[in-house]
Amino acid sequence: MQHQFPHAMLPVALHDERARQDFVRSYKVDVLTRLGPGNREVFDRRAKPSYQRKTGQPPRSRREIATAMQGDAFWQMWSSLNRSGQEMMWEALTEPAFRERPRLVAQAQRLRRKRKSFGSLQISGDPVPRYIAAVDIHNQPGGYGLVLGQDDVYAGALYDLSAYHYSVGGLGPLGSDPGDSTVAFLREHHRRFAPRRILDLGASIGASTLPFADAFPKARIDAIDVSEGMMRYADARAKSLGKTIHFSQQNAERTNLSSGSFDLIVSHLFFHETSAAAVRNVMKECHRLLAPGGLMIHSDVPESNQFHPDPYDQWWRDWTTHFNAEPFRSTLRDTSLSKVAVAAGFAPRNVRELKIPSAAAVGVYKKTHGYGAEWHLVVATK
Ligand SMILES: C[S@@+](CC[C@H](N)C(=O)[O-])C[C@H]1O[C@@H](n2cnc3c(N)ncnc32)[C@H](O)[C@@H]1O
Repeated sequence: MQHQFPHAMLPVALHDERARQDFVRSYKVDVLTRLGPGNREVFDRRAKPSYQRKTGQPPRSRREIATAMQGDAFWQMWSSLNRSGQEMMWEALTEPAFRERPRLVAQAQRLRRKRKSFGSLQISGDPVPRYIAAVDIHNQPGGYGLVLGQDDVYAGALYDLSAYHYSVGGLGPLGSDPGDSTVAFLREHHRRFAPRRILDLGASIGASTLPFADAFPKARIDAIDVSEGMMRYADARAKSLGKTIHFSQQNAERTNLSSGSFDLIVSHLFFHETSAAAVRNVMKECHRLLAPGGLMIHSDVPESNQFHPDPYDQWWRDWTTHFNAEPFRSTLRDTSLSKVAVAAGFAPRNVRELKIPSAAAVGVYKKTHGYGAEWHLVVATK
């Protein structure tokens, strides 16, 4: 596994913190890859026959499978171990992020002063939407909207560490794999496309935004997110890596950006952490912001039920909705993003959904998450 790239904004872990992080990563891999498949066995041999005896028919939907499995001791043990892994991960990451916070705040201020020509940063100070404030998504302590003080970057610093450890390095040393993969898709399928203005939505720390700066050096790139801690950190991180991006804290459901002003609008890993109502609003906003002939690409985990017809797979993927504070994930899997795009104004013939290979194609991610090495795109032209 490649190490996380040690850019100037990354919290530095001490020896014992590093040991804890290493332990948690291997614990997670073990629970997911060695014990995880045991649930299928338990379902086939124990829960399914028992459900059938009680109801006269085998469980057919993911909800019936949930009923069949919920009381099973192996499933309960596995679920508890998996949840503990996530909690241990946050303990191993919050310590260095919190200890490093004052240094990182000062570092971000310094980078903003010294690297003024590398993009810009606008902080509105608006509160995050309720659907973000109410839930600590995948149990990140304090959630995405956490602000601990003036000029804070803590939410971003913690997210940067977690993206690497949670994906067990699967997003690459800079966490940029989703963006790298979209750029590779554009290079292969839209060779002549040379956008002059690009917008990245729900950019968080800008990990997936940066590949667009390398791929389209003449374009102006804007990136937005509702979290001020993420945007401040993203700006400092991009500056430390010598990339020019214009970050602003705003809600992608209704931005202050001009109609028809972007040739390319992208998002990565955004919709599965966004409410269903917000997804519909974001699509409408994309339609408003795109220039005629412009391209919209939303990339996310390839979990849609259209790719996973087996109800057991669908039930398995619900774990994170119920036990890892990702309330929108199951709903998104049931949603046809093509239909949402059409309802937002895109012509049906101009919308398609597909899976693309991951640029990094890191095997361990595939093993632990059952996907990885692939992304689900919804692509539309205006
Ligand atoms: C998983 S992160 C995105 C990761 C990032 N795009 C990447 O590829 O590294 C999801 C982000 O969406 C942001 N978000 C959620 N709802 C939003 C909204 N309505 N407008 C803008 N950002 C939003 C969250 O604050 C969070 O930072």
